[in-house]
Amino acid sequence: MAEGSRAANAAQAQRWNGESGRYWIAHRERHLAGHRHLIPHLFRAARISPGERVLDVGCGCGATTIAAARAARGPAGAGPDAWLPGQGEPGSGGSAVGLDLSGPMLEVARRLAVQAGVANARFVQGDAQACPLRRDSCDVMISSFGVMFFDDPAAAFASIAAALGHRSRLAFLCWQHDMHNELFAIPLRAFGAHTRLPGPAVGHLFTDPRQVTELLSGAGWEDIQIDDVSEPAWMGSDVADVMSYVRGMSMIRSLAADLGDETLTERVLATVAEQYAARQRPDGVWVRAAAWLVTAHRA
Ligand SMILES: C[S@@+](CC[C@H](N)C(=O)[O-])C[C@H]1O[C@@H](n2cnc3c(N)ncnc32)[C@H](O)[C@@H]1O
Repeated sequence: MAEGSRAANAAQAQRWNGESGRYWIAHRERHLAGHRHLIPHLFRAARISPGERVLDVGCGCGATTIAAARAARGPAGAGPDAWLPGQGEPGSGGSAVGLDLSGPMLEVARRLAVQAGVANARFVQGDAQACPLRRDSCDVMISSFGVMFFDDPAAAFASIAAALGHRSRLAFLCWQHDMHNELFAIPLRAFGAHTRLPGPAVGHLFTDPRQVTELLSGAGWEDIQIDDVSEPAWMGSDVADVMSYVRGMSMIRSLAADLGDETLTERVLATVAEQYAARQRPDGVWVRAAAWLVTAHRA
């Protein structure tokens, strides 16, 4: 990882190489199940064709990179190293590279790609804000909730644009405002009745389509389209399972710390549990997840 980029997103690098990374890995399958109805929107919008070179930003444990590599598997089969400077010219076969700050999450991604027998996926540890891929080495960028954490989103999207060739495109999912999103709104409302809520769990900018449009057009993107994608999201098998997950969320731990009262925290969590109990179905607890699907092109 380049020095400058490490300095730029140092807090995020520490977070995703530390506790959040471990938490995400521990709940990898839960997140996959939770995103199951959202990800097809991303892939429909990305329209990955055989032979294309895909960049998956903030790929985490790599599920979308592996899926993109399968979609891009082209007849000529360019080596997956073709993405990196000094690794030969990209060929005509398709492949996917997952870029992420988190070493531990990428280790999982590499293992899963091997297990899946997907040889045209590669994973690179680095900061998308200073994209380490060589210029014009990708045709399409995708991201499943991996673009919301930049210190400088304008620099990030300009850097990503440089890695993409002319006539390239992007498609990414990001969360709508916390309070429009049951994933976050249920615990936030319960805690908000007793303590002042912090800013949104995800960056303000990405919850606001107008600001996203300005950001992307400022970084040279065109035909920007932002669609509402609201889908049911599976949170866990039953209320106890969901609550064990929710209690570990960094947002909940910091709200509990703000409250500074264990008894009150338990009372608040009991009201949260009631909300999940009301959403229990035979196959688990489901909430409404609200995302933005953002697509754009470069001329
Ligand atoms: C919410 S997780 C999403 C992971 C994965 N895309 C998924 O849907 O399961 C966000 C991911 O973005 C990565 N990330 C955050 N900031 C980043 C940056 N500046 N460059 C690259 N990856 C970043 C984190 O390490 C983390 O893996």
